[in-house]
Amino acid sequence: MINAEEFIQFKLWQRKENDSLRKLSSSTLPVDFCSNDYLGFAKSVNLRTAIKTENDALFGNPNGSGGSRLLSGNTSYTEETENFIASFHNAESGLIFNSGYDANVGLLSSLGQKGDTFICDEFIHASLIDGVRLTHANRYTFRHNDLHQLEEKLKLAKGVTYVIVESVYSMDGNIAPLREISDLCKTYAASLIVDEAHATGVFGEKGKGLVQALNLEQEVFAKVVTFGKALGCHGAIVLGSQNLREYLVNFARSFIYTTAAPLHNIVAIKHAYQLLQTVDYSAKLRQKITYFTQLSIQLNLANITFSPSAIQTMIFPGNVNAKNAAAKMQANGLDVRPILSPTVLEGKERIRICLHLFNTDEEINRLVLQLKELNI
Ligand SMILES: Cc1ncc(COP(=O)(O)O)c(C=O)c1O
Repeated sequence: MINAEEFIQFKLWQRKENDSLRKLSSSTLPVDFCSNDYLGFAKSVNLRTAIKTENDALFGNPNGSGGSRLLSGNTSYTEETENFIASFHNAESGLIFNSGYDANVGLLSSLGQKGDTFICDEFIHASLIDGVRLTHANRYTFRHNDLHQLEEKLKLAKGVTYVIVESVYSMDGNIAPLREISDLCKTYAASLIVDEAHATGVFGEKGKGLVQALNLEQEVFAKVVTFGKALGCHGAIVLGSQNLREYLVNFARSFIYTTAAPLHNIVAIKHAYQLLQTVDYSAKLRQKITYFTQLSIQLNLANITFSPSAIQTMIFPGNVNAKNAAAKMQANGLDVRPILSPTVLEGKERIRICLHLFNTDEEINRLVLQLKELNI
């Protein structure tokens, strides 16, 4: 029998053998093509000043919340912020979680009961998968964005049925055919849950997301919006009916059994949303995306996804190839990261590029030229 230390050593050895060992790195490079800070809010001086001003003004604003939302950690400020965000997204109500991971795990694990069915796109985020895994519900996956397979699974579904998709997929940057998925959900009386982590701030009026852009707000059972990407802060909200909010307060364990975020985090979220409404940032970001796409087409780049979102990927099959390609770009000051298997499928290892509002045209030119060099 092996002991625990031998077990972990073996698992790490396996990772090293596959060139897939994950390591923390605190280094940053001059040109950010890697963070999810699509609109530059995480570094915005105006946002920082607004947050600081309000934090200073909130007399007695404590360092920590002191408890879970159901005990001492709730404030009227938090609930007002939830209402403010819900109304921005045209939802009846919203409930803030400490992260997108917590939101997805809490939402799905509390909903799924024995005899119910989750039908998931094969590329949904780990947090959604983990939420489903915590239940005794039936689980089907359908091929990525494959409507035909989704319908096949809907025909097999039993009990309360949920279809789980992302509007923008985090590793490919491509978008879900939400209208068609929503129509299928209607036909088969399934409830649609959409993770808008990478669509918020990028699509829709003033960055309201892809569900809003497609006018599907009333068709979706629940939406998850995360604040750690385009909004530049931290946390997430589940948007849906007032009943859903009350249900989550009662049954979502990742909401109930955790210390509430400190008030200064909620202040940051509120001000990020206020900033989002001042200018149509998402329209400006989309100009950058179009610029990148046009340039990539002009230079005839191969193996690139050409996504309408801020996430672009170039495939370099094999962990070593993806790492080498990223290292070459990093050596030239461009911060791109390799995405390795098992995070993505074997053979689909890649460089993941995030475009930002603050990336200059000159930086994008350099990026595309570098990609072209690696392409040959
Ligand atoms: C699609 C998607 N959902 C949820 C999450 C989790 O959000 P958070 O980083 O706030 O935990 C992520 C982040 O990686 C994501 O890409």
